[in-house]
Amino acid sequence: MPDTVLSIRDLRVYFNIRAGTVRAVDGVDLDIAEGEKLGLVGESGSGKTTTALAIMRMIKPPGEIAGGTVKLDGRDLISLSEPEMRSVRGNDVAMVPQAAMNALNPVRRIRSQMLDGLRDHGINESRERSQERLNTLMAQVGLNSSVLNLFPHELSGGMKQRVTIAMAISHKPRLILADEPTSALDVVVQRQVMETLEDVRSEIGAAVILVGHDMGLMAQFADRIGVMYAGKLVELATVQQIFANPRHPYTRLLISSLPDTAGKRRLQGIPGLPPSLLAVPPGCPFMPRCPEAMDICGEEVPQLVGDPDLVSCHLHTEAVAA
Ligand SMILES: Nc1ncnc2c1ncn2[C@@H]1O[C@H](COP(=O)(O)OP(=O)(O)OP(=O)(O)O)[C@@H](O)[C@H]1O
Ligand SMILES: [Mg+2]
Repeated sequence: MPDTVLSIRDLRVYFNIRAGTVRAVDGVDLDIAEGEKLGLVGESGSGKTTTALAIMRMIKPPGEIAGGTVKLDGRDLISLSEPEMRSVRGNDVAMVPQAAMNALNPVRRIRSQMLDGLRDHGINESRERSQERLNTLMAQVGLNSSVLNLFPHELSGGMKQRVTIAMAISHKPRLILADEPTSALDVVVQRQVMETLEDVRSEIGAAVILVGHDMGLMAQFADRIGVMYAGKLVELATVQQIFANPRHPYTRLLISSLPDTAGKRRLQGIPGLPPSLLAVPPGCPFMPRCPEAMDICGEEVPQLVGDPDLVSCHLHTEAVAA
């Protein structure tokens, strides 16, 4: 068994707004092994981005990490000081943002932005050595080094996303958080960028959490898939298991809502809406939309159980316990 890189326990992130407390992430447990690729899926608003931001300790007010632990190689990030956390962000964890356009400074050339990035990561070396390093990074993500001389607006969407990947891997992080890194790109470029991400990931042996809606893309990329609903993980299993034998009714609906025609494989929609995270009803949060709901579902929150594949659903609690 490979070592555990990331171990999250009872993570809770709340947004305190005038109308009350939004429980955006509400008791997430998650372990990620060295070099593992985990896909995090779920409808809009289920807490995927908030989970990723909480790992980076980048939740901004009115949000706060209300509880839990996030251990990276055994060290709890939640209890680190801000300077210590800055060093973690520079060295151990990297984020590939969704909107590459916003992550890059529009008025500066790629080269100077990347050099700043290296410096932020504490890499201080001669100009020649830095140059070499940038050229290597560009080659790793499939870009010509002449791109270094360009401004962001002179790059295509896919090229910009490759630049953000190059920045993310420059310090060889243990864990990469990629929040819908390709959702703004067309399907062909999407695949190419994902392949690049996988190439560089395997080269440095990092683990990845890939956030996204696209189950098809997840199936190609991930080892395991975590399904989020209303701030909770409701199923966590290998890709094979999720597709061959999805156990949570929500996961089943997610998979059956995949159109089988080629083209945009976006989530097609499941009847009904997720609950307001301001007032999650008692019991299973999916109950109001669940085609298989039972009496107990309105009364008791199902626990995430199983070994090694996990599910939180009363249809399975008996079976798993037995
Ligand atoms: N600044 C904020 N203030 C209040 N609520 C917020 C804030 N940011 C996020 N939320 C709430 O937290 C919940 C989770 O949001 P999050 O962005 O994590 O969802 P997501 O799963 O990433 O969705 P998407 O697929 O649309 O990116 C949502 O209900 C959202 O309304
Ligand atoms: Mg999001």
